[in-house]
Amino acid sequence: MEKYKIAVIAGDGIGPEVITEGVKVLSCVAKLDGGFDFEFTYFPWGCEYYLQHGRMMAEDGIETLSGFDAIFLGAVGAPGVPDHISLWDLLLIIRKKFDQYVNLRPVRLLEGAPTPLSGIRREDINMTFIRENSEGEYAGSGALLYPGTDREVAIQNGVFSRHGCERIIRYAFELARREGKSLTSISKGNALNYSMVFWDKIFTEVGAEYPDVKTYSYLVDAAAMFMIKDPKRFEIVVTSNLFGDILTDLGAAISGGMGLAAGANLNPERKFPSMFEPIHGSAPDIAGRKVANPLATVWSASQMLDFFGQEKWGARLIEIIEEILTEGKTLTPDLGGTAHTDEVGDEVVRRLVARAEGKI
Ligand code: NAD
Ligand code: IPM
Ligand code: MN
Repeated sequence: MEKYKIAVIAGDGIGPEVITEGVKVLSCVAKLDGGFDFEFTYFPWGCEYYLQHGRMMAEDGIETLSGFDAIFLGAVGAPGVPDHISLWDLLLIIRKKFDQYVNLRPVRLLEGAPTPLSGIRREDINMTFIRENSEGEYAGSGALLYPGTDREVAIQNGVFSRHGCERIIRYAFELARREGKSLTSISKGNALNYSMVFWDKIFTEVGAEYPDVKTYSYLVDAAAMFMIKDPKRFEIVVTSNLFGDILTDLGAAISGGMGLAAGANLNPERKFPSMFEPIHGSAPDIAGRKVANPLATVWSASQMLDFFGQEKWGARLIEIIEEILTEGKTLTPDLGGTAHTDEVGDEVVRRLVARAEGKI
C-alpha cells in the first residue's frame, strides 16, 4: 500500500485548531480509500518553540523535512515574536530551501460561498493564481545601513532572475494550455523600470512558444480594480511574489473570505517536498475560541490529494465543502454560522462516510 509521509507543522494561533481538522479529514479519506495511507509526523515548531529554544525550528529542521513527501502547515506568527523573524525562519525558509517556486492559489467562488460583489455570476470568479514563490520582492536581499543614526537607511532589493521568471511563466503557460484557458500576467512595468520590464519581456518571449494560449497583461493597480469590477476577465494568472500575496487576499475577500482560501507551495520537479497550507495567518484575534474556519485547510488537503494523484478524493472534498456551504447549517461565525471549528471538520468526515456508504 502506498504510504504518504506527511510532516505536520501546526504552528501558532489558529494553526493547530485548523490543522487538526485537516488531518482528521485526510485520515478519513485514506481509511475510506483503502489503497493508500498517511503517516503524520508532528513538529512542534513555531513561536512557542522560538521562545523556548531561540529558534523557529530545530537546527536540522530542513534536513529532517526533506525526508517527507509533503508538509502540511497551519499558520505561523504570534504577538511577542517579530513577524519578520517567525515567518522568515520557518515558512519562508521552507519555501526557499525546497525550491517551492510555484504558489498555486485558487480564487474560486464555490457553490454556497458568499461574495460581497453584486451583479456577477458565480462562475465569474474562477481564477488560478500562479504566484512566483522563490524570489522577486521576497528574495531577502538588502541591508540596514547606519542603524540607529540619523542617517539610517533600509534597502530591500527585488531580485528577478531569468531562470526564476522563465520557469514560473512557463509553468503558467503549461497550465493554461492544459486547461484551455487564458493566461493573464500581472506586473508593473511603468514604475518598476528594471524588474517588471524584464518580467514583461520574458512573458512575451515565453508566450511566443504558446500561440494557442490567449494572453493578457495588466498593471497590478488596474488588475486589483478589475478583480472587483469584472472578475471574469481572469482565468489563469501569473504574477510576482508580493503582488501574488496581496492579490490573493483580495481574491479571498471576493470568494468567501480568509476562512476559505487555500494554497499549495509546489516544487514541480518533486525533488523536494511540497507544502500545503491555508493562506490565512495565525489570527491571534480569534485564536483559542474554536471559531476558526477549517475549510481553507480542508481545501489545501484537497490540493495535497491532487498532488499525490488522488484527484478523485481532491474533487470529493471540494464537493463536500460546497454541500456544507450550500446547506448553511454547520458554518463558523466568519460565514455567519455558530459552529465550532471541530464541528465543521466532523461534518466533512460525516459526509465523506455517508457518501462512501451510498447514503447521500
Ligand atoms: P490573518 O490571516 O491571521 O487574519 C486576518 C483576518 O482574517 C483576522 O480578522 C482573522 O480573524 C481572519 N481569519 C483568518 N483566518 C481565519 C479563519 N480560518 N477563520 C476565520 N477567520 C479567519 O492575518 P494577520 O492578522 O495579518 O496576521 C496574523 C499573524 O499571522 C501575523 O503574525 C502574520 O505575520 C501571520 N501570517 C502568517 C501566515 C502564514 O503562516 N501562512 C499568513 C499570513 C499572516
Ligand atoms: C502568505 C503570507 C506570507 C507571504 C507571509 C506570512 C510571509 O502572507 O502566505 O500569503 O507573504 O507569503
Ligand atoms: Mn498573504
